[in-house]
Amino acid sequence: MDVLEAIRKRRSVRRYTEDSIPKVDLETIVDAGRLAPTGSNRQPWDFVIVTDRDMITQFKISGTWITSAGAVIVVVMDPQSRWWVEDGAAAIENMLLACTAQGYGACWVEGDALSHEEQFKTLLEVPADKRVMALIPIGVAAETPTPEKKPLEQVLHWEKY
Ligand SMILES: Cc1cc2nc3c(=O)[nH]c(=O)nc-3n(C[C@H](O)[C@H](O)[C@H](O)COP(=O)(O)O)c2cc1C
Repeated sequence: MDVLEAIRKRRSVRRYTEDSIPKVDLETIVDAGRLAPTGSNRQPWDFVIVTDRDMITQFKISGTWITSAGAVIVVVMDPQSRWWVEDGAAAIENMLLACTAQGYGACWVEGDALSHEEQFKTLLEVPADKRVMALIPIGVAAETPTPEKKPLEQVLHWEKY
């Protein structure tokens, strides 16, 4: 699947089958994250792949549907890096597209104001000076969402606003 096709196909998927996800596929997804553009090439990120069912269950406070995911990638950022939010967002989008390209559904859960961040940091033993920016639950899709998108002509401006 080429990148444009993945962009067009990607949707936030919140229902998954019980199929597990091979480790190699999860590594490919994180690899796409680490290759994202990053201010001054600082790469202020770490990625925690969670596959343990009991651990995944703990994420239900961010959405009960997350418990059906085959894996959750937790995006950990260094907030001392100037562009950590932008860098994290770029890495997350790369990973979402990598999920789509490999035939998985996924969803971006929360942003730099992640609720329950402290609980997740404790659970995952994330150092105090790092931020948990987002969760990415992943699985084989059991739904095909079609959220409405603004048409191109509504958002595209040529030359001036
Ligand atoms: C910063 C950010 C935070 C989001 N947080 C959540 C969330 O907490 N729970 C959720 O179900 N979806 C979350 N989403 C997914 C959005 O709801 C979704 O992208 C939007 O409805 C558009 O649908 P699409 O992704 O299928 O195009 C988030 C997306 C972004 C970019």
